[in-house]
Amino acid sequence: MTPEEKLYNCYDSIKGKLNGFTPKIALILGSGLGALADEIDVKFTIDYSEIDGFPQSTVQGHKGRFVFGYMGDVPVVIMQGRVHYYEGYSMHDTVLPVRLMRLMGAEILFLTNAAGGISFGAGEFMLITDQISTFSPSPLIGRNFDKFGTRFPDMSEIYNKELNSAVRNAARELGIDLKEGVYVQTTGPNFESPAEVKMFKILGADAVGMSTACEAIVANHAGMKICGISCIANLACGLSDNPLTHAEVMEAADNSAPVFKKLIKGAVEAIARIS
Ligand code: HPA
Repeated sequence: MTPEEKLYNCYDSIKGKLNGFTPKIALILGSGLGALADEIDVKFTIDYSEIDGFPQSTVQGHKGRFVFGYMGDVPVVIMQGRVHYYEGYSMHDTVLPVRLMRLMGAEILFLTNAAGGISFGAGEFMLITDQISTFSPSPLIGRNFDKFGTRFPDMSEIYNKELNSAVRNAARELGIDLKEGVYVQTTGPNFESPAEVKMFKILGADAVGMSTACEAIVANHAGMKICGISCIANLACGLSDNPLTHAEVMEAADNSAPVFKKLIKGAVEAIARIS
């Protein structure tokens, strides 16, 4: 089966369950941030394990299901748990869920993640204004998905300016300090070395993580509007004296979760008002 056939196979296996529900906004929740899905008016859920051929998330703290429902009046699909390249999936599989949500009808992709801070510290939130994906393979390598987009997509405005201003306004109204910066994706699963973090800083990155940029590439390819927020879970390696652990990342994300939930809810409502 080609990656494209695999995608349509997944879609065929869930189309019936959607019962005509068309999400406007697709959200991907990062490590420790999945609790947001409990806040929405849930209509139904689909576990990843129910979807024929769908890659299963193996990361602790990632639940592994699509949640369908309403945030305010906005029909949304939320990925509670994402698929990471470092789990051993191909890049095509890693980004399959984004394309699947596009097939479901989502026009906007709202990305979230827990990230290491290069310019910012634990507990801060960063609106992603641009990205560096050079350190992980492009998800568009291989035969082009012509029905989704062009072979050589433009990348001059991956993160949509209007969505960004809506997110900024929502943060301001809620009194939440929202930083801004560039996200760099590594393949993981190892954290970076201090020398790599220094390099990323020189290259202009403000936060580092193991997801998101590849998802933004396929969403951009597929004509979706994109915005994203990083929840800074720790200072990137070498910027503090402590060695990093996944437990620390999860704990920091847990601590940020209540404010994060408010921010995302406000941001989604603000985006809905302008789109
Ligand atoms: N590096 C990469 N990914 C991460 C980090 C980090 O420091 N923290 C959370 N995700």
